[in-house]
Amino acid sequence: MALTKFHLLAFICLVSSIALVTSIDTFSIQGRVYCDTCRAGFETNITEYIPGAKVRVECTHFLTNKVEHSNEGVTDSSGSYKITVSNDHADEICEVVLVESPQENCMEIEKGRDRAQVLLANDGGISGNTRHANSLGFLRNEPLPFCAQLLQEYFGQGEED
Ligand SMILES: *[C@@H]1O[C@H](CO)[C@@H](O)[C@H](O)[C@H]1NC(C)=O
Repeated sequence: MALTKFHLLAFICLVSSIALVTSIDTFSIQGRVYCDTCRAGFETNITEYIPGAKVRVECTHFLTNKVEHSNEGVTDSSGSYKITVSNDHADEICEVVLVESPQENCMEIEKGRDRAQVLLANDGGISGNTRHANSLGFLRNEPLPFCAQLLQEYFGQGEED
């Protein structure tokens, strides 16, 4: 009797460890890098997306604050990147951070828009392996001429509601 209980327990352990291993996988982190052409602090309808921008995924351990994983990616012609990160990162906080813009007139780091957190754990309640990060933005050195009018329209509409 004790033996069968033990066997049952061993079997359950085996099955659950297999389930754990197979649930740990690679994650595909996707997002876009834009040029904040209005220096508005958010994406507008004249925001441009930056091809060839470098970003990095950094995972920092909860307790040690040490960067455990780092992985770079580059945006394609539509300003989109896709970075694959392997393994489970349940004990880590992972962020996509801006590294470099290839556009001379749009390479200023925008505080608060230079990093986006992504959850890379299987127990986070998100199914699937794709993680969409918030867009990251560089600031254009000068706002485009149309921006004043555009922002006025945006905020003007906000007041009416
Ligand atoms: C952007 O939005 C503004 C205000 O709604 C509009 O006047 C303008 O034509 C739009 N521009 C583009 C490029 O869609």
